[in-house]
Amino acid sequence: MSKEFKRTLVTTALPYANGPVHIGHLAGVYVPADIYTRFLRLRGEDVVMIGGSDEHGVPITIKARKEGVTPQDIVDRYHGIIKDSMAGLGISFDIYSRTTSKMHSATASEFFRRLYDKGEFVEKTSMQLYDEEAGQFLADRYVTGECPHCHADGAYGDQCEKCGTSLNATDLINPHSAITGNVPVMRETRHWYLPLDRWQNFLEKWILEDHKEWKSNVYGQCKSWLDLGLQPRAVSRDLDWGVPVPVEGADGKVLYVWFDAPIGYISNTKEFLPDSWEKYWKDPETRVINFIGKDNIVFHCIVFPAMLKAYGDNFQLPDNVPANEFLNLEGDKISTSRNWAVWLHEYLVDFPGKQDTLRYVLTANAPETKDNDFTWRDFQARNNSELVAILGNFVNRAMVLTHKYFEGKVPVADGIAETDSNALAEVAAAGRALTTALEGFHFREALKEAMNMARTGNRYLQETEPWKIAKSGDMERVGVILNTALQICASIAVAFEPFLPFMSGKLCKMLGMGDLCWDMVGKTDNVAAGTQLGEPELLFEKIEDEAIQAQIDKLNAAKEANKINSWKAAPQAPDVDFDTFMKADLRVGTVLECERVPKADKLLRFLIDDGLEKRTIVSGIAAHYAPETLVGKQVVFIANLPPRKLRGIVSQGMILSAENADGSLTLLTPMAQATPGAQVK
Ligand code: 2FM
Ligand code: ZN
Repeated sequence: MSKEFKRTLVTTALPYANGPVHIGHLAGVYVPADIYTRFLRLRGEDVVMIGGSDEHGVPITIKARKEGVTPQDIVDRYHGIIKDSMAGLGISFDIYSRTTSKMHSATASEFFRRLYDKGEFVEKTSMQLYDEEAGQFLADRYVTGECPHCHADGAYGDQCEKCGTSLNATDLINPHSAITGNVPVMRETRHWYLPLDRWQNFLEKWILEDHKEWKSNVYGQCKSWLDLGLQPRAVSRDLDWGVPVPVEGADGKVLYVWFDAPIGYISNTKEFLPDSWEKYWKDPETRVINFIGKDNIVFHCIVFPAMLKAYGDNFQLPDNVPANEFLNLEGDKISTSRNWAVWLHEYLVDFPGKQDTLRYVLTANAPETKDNDFTWRDFQARNNSELVAILGNFVNRAMVLTHKYFEGKVPVADGIAETDSNALAEVAAAGRALTTALEGFHFREALKEAMNMARTGNRYLQETEPWKIAKSGDMERVGVILNTALQICASIAVAFEPFLPFMSGKLCKMLGMGDLCWDMVGKTDNVAAGTQLGEPELLFEKIEDEAIQAQIDKLNAAKEANKINSWKAAPQAPDVDFDTFMKADLRVGTVLECERVPKADKLLRFLIDDGLEKRTIVSGIAAHYAPETLVGKQVVFIANLPPRKLRGIVSQGMILSAENADGSLTLLTPMAQATPGAQVK
């Protein structure tokens, strides 16, 4: 931290309300932001955490159009799901509002109008893509085509998801409307542009010189943008969903979603603190921290700061933007449209009471410096061998032994030995390392330090073996050991509160602790001798293989469904001349016998009545049909292929089947009984 601040404003990227939130959102933004905010609160700092749904933008209107409902219906549905599920996971927003609120449209309108009045925009008329059938301009996600940079297909009008490049719709090669599939025409339209080039020098100094401490992924992305030279960016769109452009003659035009969304941080602060919001935005003694995902970096580090500078009024720019990389799922990119995700609202139903396990795994495996992978097996292993076996086990032993030997009363620690003070010193050292890591936004490392306290506790009990000493009758020494162990438990209750708030609450209750503060981490008198402890309760439960398998099955089902949804008929093969085609002798035959070919999983041996004689054909269809169900059925086969030996059986032809979207095979059979040997014409 370069200077002293009086308060902190934590903002969290506003998720689009076109779907629920998934583990990628959580690991990238909300869990780290919550950990940080809880940490500052425990330190007694003045901090507010602002969240909300991003309810404008094309993904929402596209979804509404697909479902035949209004965009407002869509955002009402998902805003509710997102808000409730975040609360369910313990993400402790001070406010979670939305960009369709009155406060937001007033704030965003006023913001635009002020920039307009100050001459901070450039007004330009240009040719843009237009869908004549849909009667609308095609901006952002309304148009797809080939990326001009990496040449991937399916790039959007605002971004290529393959190479990450930010695009203008008119850059796309071979564009198509996402509404009708039509090739768009060019039509003239007028828009307002924020001339980022005017802010180039300012941003270069502010980021490249004054914020060298930013994470290298953030700094690096900003540097590449700045090195390329900033260009004016359109901040209005020809759409009917969004905040209307508040100037004369702008009918049918709304603010670009990336212009209004970050203003949502301000609107939501105003809604939460109508009388004191300005102090969190305009006082230089406020520190603003933006938690975002890596695809939001340019908007938070370049566009929004330029907007704030253009507005003036001393709006504070972010002091840090700790963006994370992406989290993958079982080796594949998380995708809302492919339903390849672990959805938070479903997780909360499938794993009731296990909020902390998800928070733990997402932090231990956070994509802080590179993309990372979430797997259900790792989730299970971390729960069972870390939370249950290390953290839960230590606390449980300390609690159960105190109940066993001292009727649940915290014993007196008279005569602390070196082993005891060493263990306490180790915990205090872990606490200091934990604090430093949290201050520097290194949440994975911070969690490791917190876990080290539990590891120390386990080792301490293993070394001191109070159960053996109790047998010898030295209860005074047993008391010292258990007092020490309980002090470590108390440090754990505080140290873990930002990470695992549900566990911390339960543990505090068991230890009879009142209000927590960060200074208690590493202290040796957090639970007073004589305190009556609560009943020992297990802090974590094992997760069984069946629960994990159910999740893996769910993902496999999504993969299958996706395969079918995205299936496209193969392009037509090159023409074949008629005479060549007619050479193929296609006939109908009746199945007389059908059986599996031994030691060949895929093959069935057919004996066919072909109208002339009986012929044997081997077909690779065993995975799709039980042989006994085919006897008596009729099939279509090519009769005049040269015989081929398959697994020692001479196959005299080929039975025809169709390959479906899911890879299954359907045998071709006549609609009604045909004469065996009938030729297919
Ligand atoms: O990427 C997204 O999901 C955007 N809705 C984030 C917006 S962040 C802020 F600007 F509101
Ligand atoms: Zn690309």
